[in-house]
Amino acid sequence: MKKILITGGAGFVGSHLSKRLLSEGNSIYCLDNLYTGSKENIKDLLDNQSFEFINQDINEPLDFDEKIDEIYNLACPASPIHYQKDPLYTTKTSVLGALNILELAKKNNARILQASTSEIYGDPEVHPQPESYWGKVNPV
Ligand SMILES: NC(=O)c1ccc[n+]([C@@H]2O[C@H](COP(=O)([O-])OP(=O)(O)OC[C@H]3O[C@@H](n4cnc5c(N)ncnc54)[C@H](O)[C@@H]3O)[C@@H](O)[C@H]2O)c1
Repeated sequence: MKKILITGGAGFVGSHLSKRLLSEGNSIYCLDNLYTGSKENIKDLLDNQSFEFINQDINEPLDFDEKIDEIYNLACPASPIHYQKDPLYTTKTSVLGALNILELAKKNNARILQASTSEIYGDPEVHPQPESYWGKVNPV
């Protein structure tokens, strides 16, 4: 059983990922400030002993008593209407938030999966895009 932190865990991707990783027997910290997410998305998980919701902004320093094995950093508004509402806050979340995650990962020797927008690929030349298509950037 791994101890896994999912930031943005109350969002669309994060809530589904939480369900999946819980079903595989892992223990989940779901950190989210509910900026665009909702407790409704995780209502079925709140009673699960292996699931803990933490209402926190990723821009604040993060610390946990237990060792974290893996981190999925999904905390960022994803749709234009939300990420353009407050561009400075979106940038802060993307940059400061990611730095906080890196600090935490270093301290715990944990692995990170960093979510990003598909915009980093540029205008796709291949449809649909297979995993092997890197577009204008090698995300690895
Ligand atoms: N949904 C998609 O199809 C898709 C496609 C490509 C990439 N992504 C990326 O995946 C990630 C998650 O996308 P999503 O669709 O689940 O979006 P979402 O808006 O549903 O989820 C994002 C979550 O992050 C939380 N959040 C935002 N700022 C925060 C902060 N400062 N501190 C703590 N929590 C914060 C929100 O409250 C929300 O619950 C994003 O980085 C997005 O760009 C999503």
